[in-house]
Amino acid sequence: MQRFFIAGPLAGRKVLVTSGPTHEPIDPVRYIANRSSGAQGVAIAGALRDLGAEVVFVTGPAAVPPPHGVQVVQVETAAQMLFAVEAAPKVDAAVFAAAVADWRVDNSSAHKMKKDGSGKAPALAFSENPDILKTVSGWGDKRPKLVVGFAAETDDVVANATAKRTRKGCDWIVANDVSPETGIMGGTENAVTLVTETGTEAWPRMSKSETARKLAVRIAKALA
Ligand code: CTP
Ligand code: CA
Repeated sequence: MQRFFIAGPLAGRKVLVTSGPTHEPIDPVRYIANRSSGAQGVAIAGALRDLGAEVVFVTGPAAVPPPHGVQVVQVETAAQMLFAVEAAPKVDAAVFAAAVADWRVDNSSAHKMKKDGSGKAPALAFSENPDILKTVSGWGDKRPKLVVGFAAETDDVVANATAKRTRKGCDWIVANDVSPETGIMGGTENAVTLVTETGTEAWPRMSKSETARKLAVRIAKALA
């Protein structure tokens, strides 16, 4: 029997994908989270793998299981996600699909917080989390050739995403409108606008897997 192996356009390329939400602990039983299911990140990692890439998949606690055939690094917090990204080998491209919590609880407790009978709620203090995308975009020798961020917005989507691309120093931003009425956050479809150095491109609303395939093909072209 003869076997044929068809090398995809990303054969021999390494790509890092961050995905899912992060959980920021309040105490051992409670945390701050967001509505990200991780579905778009899983689809992107799978699509990159299908084109032949070696994928490092750094994921927070997502509702959707990671794809097969990728190297999975499971994390919980934003700080752990940054640590995992820094520990990963040098990659050709990185896609930051994670919905990283913007803030962590400063005064988180190692013990379950208890009601003290006074009727008063505890005051939580927050610190801003490190910006993983911005950190990687600013790397020197280890910077991936192509750095792709997402921008989840509810207002002025394209304007905010365009400003975000500059502020973060990444190459592309995949912008999506996550207003509740779009049903995108936690849903199965996405409607994105790709913001690159040459302008913006609105993609039609399609399944998250189709969006992922289209993005993977674009990444392959950019790395070719
Ligand atoms: N991101 C990141 N680390 C963070 C925050 C965001 O890596 N601490 C990445 C996300 O994975 C995404 C991009 O940055 O690719 C934009 O995330 P977004 O939440 O839209 O932007 P922020 O800079 O956090 O701004 P804001 O939420 O205030 O709009
Ligand atoms: Ca944010």
